Amino acid sequence: MINRLIASTLPLFPKRLVWLFSRSYIAGETVDEAMRVCRALNDDGMKTTIDILGEFIQNLEEAEKNRDEYLALIDVTQRSRIDGNYSVKPTMFGLLIDADACYHHIREIVAKAAGYGNFIRIDMEDSNCVDLEIRLFRRIKAEFPESVGLVVQAYLRRTLDDLKGLMDLHSPTLPLNFRICKGIYAEPRRIAFQRHDEINAHFLEDLEFMFQNGIYPGIATHDRALVEGALALIDRYDMGRDRYEFQMLYGVTPELRRMLIDAGHTMRVYVPYGRHWFGYSTRRLKENPKIVNSIVKSLLLRG
Ligand code: FDA
Repeated sequence: MINRLIASTLPLFPKRLVWLFSRSYIAGETVDEAMRVCRALNDDGMKTTIDILGEFIQNLEEAEKNRDEYLALIDVTQRSRIDGNYSVKPTMFGLLIDADACYHHIREIVAKAAGYGNFIRIDMEDSNCVDLEIRLFRRIKAEFPESVGLVVQAYLRRTLDDLKGLMDLHSPTLPLNFRICKGIYAEPRRIAFQRHDEINAHFLEDLEFMFQNGIYPGIATHDRALVEGALALIDRYDMGRDRYEFQMLYGVTPELRRMLIDAGHTMRVYVPYGRHWFGYSTRRLKENPKIVNSIVKSLLLRG
């Protein structure tokens, strides 16, 4: 109740105060700040995936600006020799306004990354976007088979069927590369599991399907029970360390992250940055008020 109240009134707070909440989770406003964070993570044994903040734009001019920002980011990151790839949210490029324009923008970004031998992850957004994002992925994967991946959400009842339906794109030499996460948007019971145990069971079922079929998973969770479940599957299927990776959000559960790195698993950290951090932070908090707990705790622990 209190979490929900804090989360919904946060947009009314002064920006500087919200920054106090957000700074542990966002690399900063500028590309230089993002580079500094990525360099520190690399030095500490982690790979990165960089995300420029922004989503659900109002017009296609914004989409062009976002595309240009990503193209510039890729050049700077490659010049800075950061060990990491990139994540994009298709609604930032006009997915819900003009899906074809969105395709062309993301295609250009993937082509740029592919030119450096790098990789773009298409984030999965709310359930209005899922079919469109799968279609977008298929289209780009056909042209750049090694340079693009997708996200699947364990809370969606359809996800295992989606995975099976995408297997026609898979081959042992060019395996599919999917991030599996719980899913962050508020979705109705009809299409999405709501209970923690159901979501976790489906997460592990999807992950097991990936291991059984040679898909490369990015296991994106901070939930200790899921990490343990994933480790048990890695053991059961005797997965080599190069056949999967763990992924976590910047600033979240650093101890769990450290434990996995020290045990020799690959860890990739999702690093969001950009001018739109305020909208991003307040929206995320409204969507998932439980996060307020972790934020308040981390602020208190920092003293
Ligand atoms: P859970 O929510 O149970 O969290 C476990 C614990 O982790 C919490 O108790 C808390 O301590 C901590 N925690 C989790 N999230 C936190 C946060 N944001 N701030 C502070 N503490 C937090 N979703 C989506 O719909 N589409 C996508 O493309 C992506 N992409 C993505 C990339 C990566 C690398 C990650 C890690 C996550 C995503 N997500 C996502 C978000 C994901 O769907 C999910 O909402 C969050 O990861 C939280 O779920 P957990 O599995 O961590 O469990």
